[in-house]
Amino acid sequence: MQAESKCLNIKFEDFIHTQENEDLFGKADRVNTVLSSEILTGNEGLGMKLMNKVQPKSIIKEKNGKEHPVIMLGSNSYLNLSTNPKVISASKKALNKFGYGMGAVSNYAGITELHRELEKRIANFYKVEDCIVFPSGYGTNVGVISALCNEEDIIINDSANHASIFDGCKLSGAEIKIYPHSNMNYLERILSKIPDNKTGRLIITDGVFSMDGDLAKLDKIVELSKKYNCRVMVDDAHGVGIVGATGKGTAEYYGLEGEIDLNVGMLSKSPGGLGGYCAASKNIVQYLRLYARSYFFSTALPAPLAGGLNEAFKLMEEDKAGRRKLLKNTEYLKQELQKRGFDIGHSESAIVPVMIYNEEILFRLYEELRQSGVYVNIVTYPAVRRKECRLRLCGMSQLTKNQIDIAVKIISNKAKEYGIIK
Ligand SMILES: Cc1ncc(COP(=O)(O)O)c(C=O)c1O
Repeated sequence: MQAESKCLNIKFEDFIHTQENEDLFGKADRVNTVLSSEILTGNEGLGMKLMNKVQPKSIIKEKNGKEHPVIMLGSNSYLNLSTNPKVISASKKALNKFGYGMGAVSNYAGITELHRELEKRIANFYKVEDCIVFPSGYGTNVGVISALCNEEDIIINDSANHASIFDGCKLSGAEIKIYPHSNMNYLERILSKIPDNKTGRLIITDGVFSMDGDLAKLDKIVELSKKYNCRVMVDDAHGVGIVGATGKGTAEYYGLEGEIDLNVGMLSKSPGGLGGYCAASKNIVQYLRLYARSYFFSTALPAPLAGGLNEAFKLMEEDKAGRRKLLKNTEYLKQELQKRGFDIGHSESAIVPVMIYNEEILFRLYEELRQSGVYVNIVTYPAVRRKECRLRLCGMSQLTKNQIDIAVKIISNKAKEYGIIK
């Protein structure tokens, strides 16, 4: 095996707290000492430098200056809209007209007609009254949840929800309950025990779970929300543009379009840009414009993004963004991995987890795959429990069958060396 034989000793949780008699910044020194002695330093930590656009064959630069191509299986730009010529042309038009930054928060001088067009477009996409666009996806969850929930309220979360959802919950001060991933009996048990006088109730779930690629049991969640008088928020970051009969997301998949109270999504995944949104009733959107602090106190999304995103949503609305090709590619990728004996969980989306269950092997595989020309994401704590660590592969609409075949072959050969498959 190519990697050093040295054991990988990094546990990210070891560097969160200030130790006794340690300066506040001591933890940064400690983690850097460990990192510099470990195999991850080959590429300046986990990140890598892209030398061209994110596309099925991307060029990356290693720390030693070596540039080489990789088959890209680690991008959330599932539909390749970030490089779509129509999207880029719309973005350039907006750049020429409005410049590259907004210079103000949305409630002051921060929004253009393009921002409002985008909000209306997204509201129509979800068949709801209105929509608010935030300059950050992470900030969308934090802002929406902390604006709507307070100490007197209760929020019930799936354990696999995205970190930004949990951060928003924490910031809100509400009572937080967590049910084991997709365990609907447990969810009902929690709901049945909420005192009658606790009337501010919100169930939050990812639509597509970002680390496993499986879908929330939204039909059951909505049924329970009605039985127990709760509001429902769905973060469909990885469902929009992909899941459902026409790519409208997890609610469409379950025939629940227009029935979700808070439709949150990210503009950074399938739409290929940056930012996030919440599509909801007119009153809720207006409330969020005033009380969501990550909106009120944060400079608006740059107009070139709003321009490009309008075009991206137009393509997704018309289901002309390459969704069918993406689904075909992802199915083929899953099938080929499964055929070779990989544990790929129960993905129903473009996210394909490849379970490794051993962090040391995981880090080595990540490095060796990249050096061999396949870029995949590495997932461990704090995104998942260390013992459930995995590689995370993402489909892309523009991948070719040949690229998938090459990637699967390289992944399989490396995994065999480590005994992950036979
Ligand atoms: C489910 C989910 N919600 C929210 C976010 C945050 O979005 P962004 O990266 O655009 O800030 C992500 C991104 O990783 C995500 O996967």
